[in-house]
Amino acid sequence: MRFLIVGGAGFVGSHVVLALLDGGHDVVVLDNLSTGHRAALPDSVGFHQVDLLDFSATAKIVAQGPWDGVMHFAALSVVADSMREPLHYLRQNYLTSLNLIQACIDNKVKKFIFSSTASLFGGPERLEPIPENAAVQPGSPYGESKFFIERVLHWADAIHGLRSATLRYFNAAGADPAGRVGEDHNPETHLIPLTIDVALGRRPALKLFGMDYPTRDGSCIRDYIHVTDLADAHIRALCQLDTRSVAYNIGTGRGYSNLEIIQSVERVSGKKVLWEAAPRRGGDPAMLIANSNTFRKETGWTPRVSDLDSIVDTAMQWRKKHPYGYEN
Ligand SMILES: NC(=O)c1ccc[n+]([C@@H]2O[C@H](COP(=O)([O-])OP(=O)(O)OC[C@H]3O[C@@H](n4cnc5c(N)ncnc54)[C@H](O)[C@@H]3O)[C@@H](O)[C@H]2O)c1
Repeated sequence: MRFLIVGGAGFVGSHVVLALLDGGHDVVVLDNLSTGHRAALPDSVGFHQVDLLDFSATAKIVAQGPWDGVMHFAALSVVADSMREPLHYLRQNYLTSLNLIQACIDNKVKKFIFSSTASLFGGPERLEPIPENAAVQPGSPYGESKFFIERVLHWADAIHGLRSATLRYFNAAGADPAGRVGEDHNPETHLIPLTIDVALGRRPALKLFGMDYPTRDGSCIRDYIHVTDLADAHIRALCQLDTRSVAYNIGTGRGYSNLEIIQSVERVSGKKVLWEAAPRRGGDPAMLIANSNTFRKETGWTPRVSDLDSIVDTAMQWRKKHPYGYEN
């Protein structure tokens, strides 16, 4: 099959590209390289450096179908930034997605996969796993922007027949176990690569934002899913689109606190991780854990490599081999 992967040069997208290539499929990537890297893609992959804000350039690439599916990973995705610049986030994520979805409708694309987020559920404190049918109450403009796009996809299906799988990821982490791709954000904001950098002596100390949450040790709890298991979820979700649009939570159902992440990095690296407490940040709920039972039941998906130490180990191997990310 042949897929257009939008935002395929980024962290999650590049792992999905590899999973599709490994499965014998053809892939073309559209990306503006704002946070992604050309070096994350094999030379053989068709690549177009295009910004989704440019509708005519986007439409030109989408017109190069037919596509068996279009997958949309491109977004601004730092919750804390969205709390500082809410309108920028809302506008950028909405307009870029609107352009892509319009181009897909114009070109009769039938199947679309969208990277949504657990931040849809960030509003009230939730101290139990979040089921797929939980009420949406975004706790940040980032989460709200993803919900806007989910609503666009609803109408794109109802009126134009564009079927979509909305995958609400919890925390993606880890790296390709074969070491081909990994995580390289600049600046990095995700806890696991930051903690690894402290263990490897590349950062002085880690800041933990908020130690007074109503959790077992006071630090936030998140559900970390290995990016390879997440890539597999995309391929399984595609099969659901023959008859209807779907929305799923994608996580392991198990949560780890920030302090437990530090302990895992210390176990895997054999090094001490220095950390200091900082005040809570806006937009950070105490706990986000996925109940993915519907997805598991309907697709047979199960996380295979998402135990915490494997996530940390693969991320650390990649980080050791690529101390400056893809730059070098
Ligand atoms: N990483 C996570 O833990 C996580 C969790 C929940 C949801 N998500 C969502 O998953 C998606 C992928 O996340 P990621 O961590 O891989 O992010 P990323 O920043 O690594 O990847 C995003 C990619 O999209 C590209 N891009 C951004 N804006 C673009 C534009 N206007 N035009 C064309 N390309 C553009 C970037 O260059 C990058 O390659 C995002 O939509 C994010 O909101 C991620």
